[in-house]
Amino acid sequence: MEAAHIHVVRIAEFSWSRLEPSENHFDFDWLERAIDLAARHGIVSVLGTPTAAPPAWLTHKYPDTLRVDETGHRAVHGSRAHGSVTSPRYREFCRRIAGQMALRFGHNPNVVGWQIDNEYGYANMSFDDVTLHLFQEWLKAKYKSLDQLNQHWTTSYWSQTYDDWSEIPLLGEDREAHNPGLRLDWSRFVTDTWADYQQNQIDVIRQHVEPRQFITGNFMGFFSGFDHYVMSRPLTFASWDDYVGSGHVDPAGNGLTHDLTRGFKRENFWVIETQPGAVNWADVNNFLNRGEVRAMAWQAIGHGADEVGYWQWRSALNGQEEYHGTLVGPDGTPVPLYEEIKTIGSEFAKVESSLRGTTPVSEVAFLNSYDSRWAIDFQRHTTKYDQIALLKDYYRNLRPLSQSIDVISPDAPLQQYKLVVAPDLNVIPEDLAQHLLEYVRNGGQLVLGPRSGMKDEFNALLPQRQPGFLADALGGRVEQYYALEKDFPVSGEWGEGEVTIWAEQLKNSAPDAEVLLRYGKSNGWLDGQPAVLTRKYGKGRITYIGAILDEKIMATAAKWMIEESGVTPVFGPVPDGVEVCRRVGSNKRVFILINYTQEQRHVTLPRRMKMLLQGAEGSALDLPPYGVEVLEDNQ
Ligand code: GAL
Repeated sequence: MEAAHIHVVRIAEFSWSRLEPSENHFDFDWLERAIDLAARHGIVSVLGTPTAAPPAWLTHKYPDTLRVDETGHRAVHGSRAHGSVTSPRYREFCRRIAGQMALRFGHNPNVVGWQIDNEYGYANMSFDDVTLHLFQEWLKAKYKSLDQLNQHWTTSYWSQTYDDWSEIPLLGEDREAHNPGLRLDWSRFVTDTWADYQQNQIDVIRQHVEPRQFITGNFMGFFSGFDHYVMSRPLTFASWDDYVGSGHVDPAGNGLTHDLTRGFKRENFWVIETQPGAVNWADVNNFLNRGEVRAMAWQAIGHGADEVGYWQWRSALNGQEEYHGTLVGPDGTPVPLYEEIKTIGSEFAKVESSLRGTTPVSEVAFLNSYDSRWAIDFQRHTTKYDQIALLKDYYRNLRPLSQSIDVISPDAPLQQYKLVVAPDLNVIPEDLAQHLLEYVRNGGQLVLGPRSGMKDEFNALLPQRQPGFLADALGGRVEQYYALEKDFPVSGEWGEGEVTIWAEQLKNSAPDAEVLLRYGKSNGWLDGQPAVLTRKYGKGRITYIGAILDEKIMATAAKWMIEESGVTPVFGPVPDGVEVCRRVGSNKRVFILINYTQEQRHVTLPRRMKMLLQGAEGSALDLPPYGVEVLEDNQ
């Protein structure tokens, strides 16, 4: 590890049976020896609390600590994430092990921080009476009266009216059949439950550790089991596990996910786990190409990661993940990828001082809302509707033009952005609408995608038409939406092309609302009707795109958005297949260039810059296949 310039390890995240071999008997000596040994080689440790894997003695003696699935079956021991997030007894055991670890290692100079649990049990709930009761209590605290709940969920529909809190059911096996209001609240309840589970450990750790030790949690990109903004709030910073699975890295998709994670706290983050070549859980566990792991590591840094960690170092001789990629084999000697990791390590060491105190800064923001994500996913209306794919479409076209994008929660401050794009903002209650309108009034450019402004915070339809509270500012509205069986033509200021999967028939009511695209001959209803409206509002502009656009039109639309809002690229033109990232600090600017292709690419720099990896200076460079360069810009 030392030879590969590895400076940090994350350990113990599944080691409960070794840390507490029997109830209330702890053995931390082995862990301390490991921490000491690492420290002797210049490596600091992050400790994972082992609560994603309760030991057999615990679950055997206290079966109520095991979670129950939707069909009523209690988990059996032998896998992981089998604990019940709502079991008071399980919480108590989690608190104790985390507390004992904190007592022992909270002042250890070689322990720099903590990771709570591991991937938070994939947000799995226990479908038992404890959870049912908690859910009912949660609803009571939220709505205060059943009248309120009945009204917001429109429970009189299908005779669901509740006269007693205890009548409200758990979202179980038949979740598709449930009330949309209940489903949205259930997702929020799941979020609050996992946030509480996390807080239980944070509180006890904080009691015993030095403030310099950080606390993080490892998220999973676009996983939507809980609201990541809520989960991130008490963490020092967010982290995520970046796995490609089958195939190869998709620079846009992966870059977008880094930006998403950076947006959880609007701060730099860690890639606390990533793929050492191959995983063991995908359809085809192919190995990343030579050089690809290095390109990915630099992409993480370029998008604001301050650490990249490989899961895992060495194969365990048995256990479920024998086939997973590692840096050394079961014999402890390097596998071929080790040399590439060593290169990454030495490069990180070379540029560390230049990157210190820097972070990506953007003029463009994408809005990501879990409420909207859930609301659309519960009622997709067409199975083809894929919000992440739509987000990626926008990103794939806008990222090369701006060369930096933030992904943030809709309620985040917006004034720093010239352009705000919300491809999926289905839930826009009045206060959120006011926040967006204020941004536009002050000169912001807001672009909304299809299905925007349809729902309130209870997942009920707004009594006005889309985009709801924004319709007046837009000077137009949605007359009808259509799930499409086939693509339809559109044409207008953005050229000619097709729309796919979803199309909304728009209508402009204000005389100054411009129509940028109209549908061609399609289902009769849409023929000749507006597909995109835009209108100046205050000092800014609001644009509504009522359909999913094909690649060609999307490309022109992206150019239009960039020009209208005056966004400038952070670097300037780069060849296809090359990504540029920028990190900015007080009086420093660092660019990272990554060539994802397997061919050489020539890049002309906007001015003379220092090439930190090559150790040269110049105004042009050649990037070999999967090549990377880090540039210091002193202008
Ligand atoms: C992660 C998990 C690790 C390991 C890895 C394998 O999601 O946190 O413990 O299982 O996947 O790719």
